[in-house]
Amino acid sequence: MPHEVKGVISRTKGEPVEITTISVPDPGPGEALVAVQACGVCHTDLHYKVGAINDDYPFLLGHEAAGRVEAVGEDVTEIEPGDFVVLAWRAPCGECRSCKRGRPWYCFESANATQPMTLSDGTPLSPALGIGALASKTLVAAGQAIKVNPDAPPETAGLIGCGVMAGLGAAMYTGGVTRGDTVAVFGCGGVGDAAILGAKLAGAAKVIGVDIDPTKLKWAEDFGATHTIDSSKRDPVEAIRELTGGFGADVTIEAVGHPDVMKQAFFARDLAGTLVQAGVPNPTMMIELPMIEFYGRGGALKPAWYGDCLPTRDFPMLIDLYLQGRLDLDRFVSERIGLDDVEDAFRKMEAGEVLRSVVVLHP
Ligand SMILES: NC(=O)c1ccc[n+]([C@@H]2O[C@H](COP(=O)([O-])OP(=O)(O)OC[C@H]3O[C@@H](n4cnc5c(N)ncnc54)[C@H](O)[C@@H]3O)[C@@H](O)[C@H]2O)c1
Ligand SMILES: [Zn+2]
Ligand SMILES: [Zn+2]
Repeated sequence: MPHEVKGVISRTKGEPVEITTISVPDPGPGEALVAVQACGVCHTDLHYKVGAINDDYPFLLGHEAAGRVEAVGEDVTEIEPGDFVVLAWRAPCGECRSCKRGRPWYCFESANATQPMTLSDGTPLSPALGIGALASKTLVAAGQAIKVNPDAPPETAGLIGCGVMAGLGAAMYTGGVTRGDTVAVFGCGGVGDAAILGAKLAGAAKVIGVDIDPTKLKWAEDFGATHTIDSSKRDPVEAIRELTGGFGADVTIEAVGHPDVMKQAFFARDLAGTLVQAGVPNPTMMIELPMIEFYGRGGALKPAWYGDCLPTRDFPMLIDLYLQGRLDLDRFVSERIGLDDVEDAFRKMEAGEVLRSVVVLHP
């Protein structure tokens, strides 16, 4: 029997989101039905709403979630009903050319549920990032539901499922930050602040937060940025050079999704430095660089898809670090809200009032 539950959908490009009844099937082979306990509102959900990802409306929003497994398909062995899980938008298939070459963190055929969730009239929904968790229940591939220590509160644990992992991984994995590095993070929102935490965890000596919003810079300091730069007031490339003996940072992380910021991050590197692009651009954005600068500066330009994470490896580890008091994740939760408040949460996100608004469903 399909489950009729409330979910937050984006029906038409640019229109406010709606709460409506959606139909969630019972899990078939390889699938898991999850009762969502908490789901963060991520900037990527806003990208879906405004049509910056694709035009496959209606979208079922939400993808930063934790919950309890309610039921699993007959062949599912790795999780069982009652397990506390964080949902991942990467579930490596083991079969694609990337997995077969030993690089499952890039998996090109990541698994999702095969049955669609639908509106009550049967219209199939496109779940955000193959999850769709701004709903009291969701259907995912069993491999997307990662079992973690249930001592962690759902509203904190769920954030590991997207923004926090994307930022931590952008520093630790894609950027390869190591002991003694200088790291500059452009955009100190949820993803950028997680990159600051990731840089610290990896041993960076200097972590420079760059933003145009003074409140965000204050929060970046709370997360451990050693220096901050208001790039609405001064050229961040110059300021970063000043802080690094005239050279630039070893690793720069773009966590905004804007070509001007990408250029700043490109030029703020030291020779042979790495630029990590974590911000998601819209399809019309272009970047133009002098080829001689690309060559002459050396190093690497690397997009970070989900921080190159392996959820089965990283989620339980990060939750354990959090429970040991070694990873300050509670600070990301700016407010706890209901499903009705998602549109307002987008407004607050755009106004820079929050790091994460988290919808709490089944506390
Ligand atoms: N790569 C991934 O796997 C991944 C995962 C999740 C989110 N994202 C993307 O990361 C980006 C950030 O997401 P978020 O949830 O942290 O968003 P957010 O809205 O919380 O943060 C964005 C920050 O950028 C700042 N900003 C805006 N314009 C700026 C500028 N010109 N210079 C410097 N700072 C500026 C804002 O003040 C804000 O603090 C988004 O594009 C999102 O889609 C990527
Ligand atoms: Zn694969
Ligand atoms: Zn996200």
